[in-house]
Amino acid sequence: EIVIVPDPAAAGELIAAAITDLLTDKPDALLGVATGSTPLPIYQSLAARVGDGRLDASRARICQLDEYVGLPAGHPESYRSVVLREVVEPLGLTEESFLGPDGNAADIAAAATAYDRALAEAGGVDLQLLGIGTDGHIGFNEPCSSLSSRTRIKTLTRQTREDNARFFDSLDEVPHHVITQGIGTILEARHLVLLATGEAKAEAVALAVEGPLAAAVPASALQLHPHATVVVDEAAASKLK
Ligand code: F6R
Repeated sequence: EIVIVPDPAAAGELIAAAITDLLTDKPDALLGVATGSTPLPIYQSLAARVGDGRLDASRARICQLDEYVGLPAGHPESYRSVVLREVVEPLGLTEESFLGPDGNAADIAAAATAYDRALAEAGGVDLQLLGIGTDGHIGFNEPCSSLSSRTRIKTLTRQTREDNARFFDSLDEVPHHVITQGIGTILEARHLVLLATGEAKAEAVALAVEGPLAAAVPASALQLHPHATVVVDEAAASKLK
């Protein structure tokens, strides 16, 4: 399903309303969150709903999609820090309701496998929010990632490191490696909601939605999912046929 909305604020409201419905039906739902700029309007709308009583998120559980490898614990741009700051704290939740991979583990491969297991033991993800990279990545499954991949370490492309350099003082500070849920892991969530806003995402959205299923465009894997919703603003929709 593709939903075209006028702007990022409208997208945030629409998706926050869907999350509100989910938490009304299932108060302890496991909500998979993405980081980056795109989902911020969703988190702002969720926090506003908690603030004025339209949403009771007190039993919600939150899990991360991906994490940088090797940033010092507590680094403000580690995705753990970002999710705590943007989602967990504004919703009035605590770290106990939060699952994420350990990007500082001595054995990263084991930490990745352990995270996949933890998600399964938590009952699986009810709704996974996704952004899309300008190169078509979801999570940090860069082009040509296996469509059945599990959570593992990946190397970021130069393009993704450049796209993310805005969060750091310089490109050199952007980590080269991440732990990311695999495409196979992401596809196990019961509902996938991908949000893309802005002209820079238009090409990737068109390839993902209207192009063939291809590992070269990891977001095209959503075509395999029985319940996937792609929400785009008019700018991100501008290259759809
Ligand atoms: C972030 C993630 C990435 C981003 C994507 C878009 O957790 O997994 O796939 O969703 O890089 O980032 P923004 O929204 O900053 O354009």
